[in-house]
Amino acid sequence: MTDITRAGAFQLSDRSVNRMGYGAMQLAGPGVFGPPKDHAGALAVLREAVARGVNHIDTSDYYGPHVTNQLIREALHPYRDGLTIVTKLGARRGDDASWIPAHSPAELTQGVHDNLRNLGLEALDVANLRIGDIQGPAEGTLEPQFATLAELQRQGLIRHLGLSNVTSAQVKEARAIAPVVCVQNHYNLAHRGDDALIDELAGLCIAYAPFFPLGGFFPLQSSALSEVAADLGATPMQVALAWLLRRAPNILLIPGTSSLDHLSENLAAAELALPDAALARLNAIGALAAS
Ligand SMILES: NC(=O)c1ccc[n+]([C@@H]2O[C@H](COP(=O)([O-])OP(=O)(O)OC[C@H]3O[C@@H](n4cnc5c(N)ncnc54)[C@H](OP(=O)(O)O)[C@@H]3O)[C@@H](O)[C@H]2O)c1
Repeated sequence: MTDITRAGAFQLSDRSVNRMGYGAMQLAGPGVFGPPKDHAGALAVLREAVARGVNHIDTSDYYGPHVTNQLIREALHPYRDGLTIVTKLGARRGDDASWIPAHSPAELTQGVHDNLRNLGLEALDVANLRIGDIQGPAEGTLEPQFATLAELQRQGLIRHLGLSNVTSAQVKEARAIAPVVCVQNHYNLAHRGDDALIDELAGLCIAYAPFFPLGGFFPLQSSALSEVAADLGATPMQVALAWLLRRAPNILLIPGTSSLDHLSENLAAAELALPDAALARLNAIGALAAS
């Protein structure tokens, strides 16, 4: 069985998390809205992930909404020591499944309480403030929103703060208000706009958790990726994850899946070593995508 600790661990302030984690978004219904098609299957994926050593789960109360957090609570509460659940604030869902920014102090405070209730926690381990959306970061100040979360942190409702869908300038602005332990933006083998930000955060010992590490709703496809995978006796998704692990020491993986088979496949990437020649071929995919 895979030893996921082979991928190493990272220190999120006072919490050590394995670099191979799990993203829970795909457990909600189609379009990340409503209940899962297979409730028992969703619980099984969460329990298996933790049984296999995953101690970092990414979620949000706006997945479903509420569905993903309630599944995590049903599957895993009372939580084992050392499990770190990272959630996000800054959006809500419309009745039509739309994603609506929710950045007022009242909405952020309500979001923290919704997360606490649905996860069954007295304090959130890590709360990321989501500024932009899956299209990318939105320019502008985050001072009022981040100050609101910093105040909730002072009240003891949040242990650590992070950011999502942000620019380098916004990270700097946030750090002047309160410590930032992680950043979550869109990044993968074929979507490498954050290369400079990742390196900057590595220098600051801030984690970077790429969302859509496998390409998200459109899993990565490339002939070079498939060829490298075939050469290594691995799958393209495993190679995509192993490449991220090699990319920088502060990268934390949160691949999402609703399938036990895919979970097992993804976790096995923790043990996949990429020879330098394979790495060079994979780096060329990013260069091609950027050109
Ligand atoms: N901050 C943000 O704005 C933001 C946005 C999006 C996501 N996120 C977070 O990032 C996490 C990861 O993103 P994601 O789950 O959307 O994208 P992802 O991890 O890139 O890809 C998930 C998709 O790939 C499929 N998949 C997973 N493993 C596979 C495998 N081994 N072979 C083939 N297909 C596979 C999944 O389908 P199956 O279920 O069939 O396996 C699912 O459709 C989410 O869970 C969420 O927590 C954050």
